[in-house]
Amino acid sequence: MVKIAPSILSADFSHLGREVQEVEGSGADWLHLDVMDGRVVPNITMGPLVVEAVKKESSILLDAHLMIEEPEKHVEAFIKAGADLVTVHVEACIHLHRVLDKIKESGVKAGVALNPATPLVQLEYVWNQVDLVLLMSVNPGFGGQKFIPEVLSKIEEASRRAKSLKQPVEIQVDGGINSSSAPEAIKAGATVLVAGSSVFGQKDRQKAIQALKMYPAPPKKV
Ligand code: DX5
Ligand code: ZN
Repeated sequence: MVKIAPSILSADFSHLGREVQEVEGSGADWLHLDVMDGRVVPNITMGPLVVEAVKKESSILLDAHLMIEEPEKHVEAFIKAGADLVTVHVEACIHLHRVLDKIKESGVKAGVALNPATPLVQLEYVWNQVDLVLLMSVNPGFGGQKFIPEVLSKIEEASRRAKSLKQPVEIQVDGGINSSSAPEAIKAGATVLVAGSSVFGQKDRQKAIQALKMYPAPPKKV
């Protein structure tokens, strides 16, 4: 079944501990932390200190999505803070191979992210190094944007490629995930869905998480 990773970007930061515990208790599989530096994306969010605080309040996998320049300078700090998976953007790495090596050597999972306009071919020589491929389905920077449907064919292609590899590779889709785009993304091959506003923006978080997992429909009881 698809995994749901609520993005704390849409959480109430004045009660972050409570928010994190609530989504965890509501069936969240992972927690997604959007790290933005105001350069790679037009917004500034959180650093390792927030990751460390979230770590104290949660027991599920912490997924750090780094939208920052020169991520090689910072991956260590995020791992030390408690990230279990660190994802870097191909668009922000000159030495992608080296950064992925560095993450893996630290003993955590490594992910690589692509913006909507970036082709999958950018991953051609790093497929064997990754545990996760993150396909952005909005232009990164903000929560609450509309899903870009052109990404669906990229999800299909990435899913096909991932299945041909020796190691398991998750296909994560991030941006504009709601109850209508989630089934499309899952059908195309997504194995992890990031959801900000469609989880944290809802009163009933359990219902919201379940709604995103509704495809394929559970078998009918006879
Ligand atoms: C966008 C971030 C996303 C964002 C998703 O730059 O990478 O993780 O928080 O938010 P929603 O689900 O509201 O599009
Ligand atoms: Zn993200």
